[in-house]
Amino acid sequence: MREGLLIVLEGVDGAGTTTHTTRLSDTLRSRIAVRATREPTAGPVGALLRHALTGRLVTPGELTARAPGWTTMALMFAADRMDHLEVEILPMLREGVSVFCDRYYHSSVAYQSLTAGGGHDAIAWIRELNRHARPADLTLVLDVPAKVAAERRRRRGGRELFDDEQLQAQLCDFYAQLERHFPGERIVHVNADGPVDAVAAQVLGQVERLLAERG
Ligand code: TMP
Repeated sequence: MREGLLIVLEGVDGAGTTTHTTRLSDTLRSRIAVRATREPTAGPVGALLRHALTGRLVTPGELTARAPGWTTMALMFAADRMDHLEVEILPMLREGVSVFCDRYYHSSVAYQSLTAGGGHDAIAWIRELNRHARPADLTLVLDVPAKVAAERRRRRGGRELFDDEQLQAQLCDFYAQLERHFPGERIVHVNADGPVDAVAAQVLGQVERLLAERG
């Protein structure tokens, strides 16, 4: 049996990765075997991460409790990913199911390196932590201006750990050049600053191109 494809959607908070992962799998479901999934996962480490993102898991500091540091977060995201691969992604791919994943190791390299201060060592270490993660066959980066993403987050409500405007603006710049950090990977940018249907059509077009190439 031919392996399924691993297709990843990436972008800043408010880029629309969740919306478009769902749209894509709903559209293709009648044509190929698909599974939509996301990181952090609903598994044990993913649940801890969701608590850290919403401020319910904190590290006791000298004066006040704070969110776990970037190294702890990078390790947790990598552990969640390995578990995700083991229990869901790899078995699905082996069964010939194509997996559409809302965020993957690219998010760790972007978010955890920037919260580390942007140093090159951090990127190398985070990449090393994720060395055994199966590479994505295609990564679609949903590009939106920082202001548009900020407005979408504001409308959605509910603050999360990485909602800081300055960090999100740095993330926009990082994602705009994501391929620099992943040489050899198929990474395609999609302009996601537009109506949902128009963005969905671009996303679908890129996936259809890959499917056609596979024959
Ligand atoms: P979500 O809100 O898009 O589901 O993603 C959860 C948050 O976690 C989002 O702010 C991005 C962040 N994140 C990381 O910092 N590192 C990672 O490896 C992943 C998968 C997500």
